[in-house]
Amino acid sequence: MYRLVYPGSFDPPTLGHLDIMARALRLCDELRVAVLTSGSKQARFSLDQRIDMLKLAVEDLDSAGRIVIEGFSGLLVDYVQACGAQAVVRGVRNTQDFYYENNMAEINRHLSAQHETILLSAKPELAFISSTFIKELDRLGQDYQAWLPVSSYSYTKEAFQHRPVV
Ligand code: PNS
Repeated sequence: MYRLVYPGSFDPPTLGHLDIMARALRLCDELRVAVLTSGSKQARFSLDQRIDMLKLAVEDLDSAGRIVIEGFSGLLVDYVQACGAQAVVRGVRNTQDFYYENNMAEINRHLSAQHETILLSAKPELAFISSTFIKELDRLGQDYQAWLPVSSYSYTKEAFQHRPVV
């Protein structure tokens, strides 16, 4: 089985993430969406909330159950090794992303030479969307519905209302 890992914070998942998942799914038998449980950044949404949002978002994408969504902590390469995946997939929106992703791929190659990183370029119409901007728009009382998966927008709205604004 050819398995890819798509790791990220997904705080919250956006249409950009969903597009990368749809395209990555065409390249593998199983896509593991690995949600970082706690990183250097403080997540706005809990791990359970982020996993719920992702599960709702991929419902239409994956009738065959080829997407597995779960949390991970520690080194990404350890997770990739443990779940028997061949490669990591990440989306790249712009040159800034490219430098970051290229460095991360290089570090991961040093940690585990047998796992490749596949970089998928974001569609231009989705390339400006980021979870960070969604959170900023919400903080400033602006709408962001157009950039979230339809199925998770209401969940996100609800969850934002019940969390303190930081
Ligand atoms: O969505 P993000 O926040 O850009 O995702 C970043 C992520 C989760 C892919 C990255 O931070 C990660 O892999 N973290 C796990 C720790 C690790 O293995 N880091 C790379 C070597 S320093």
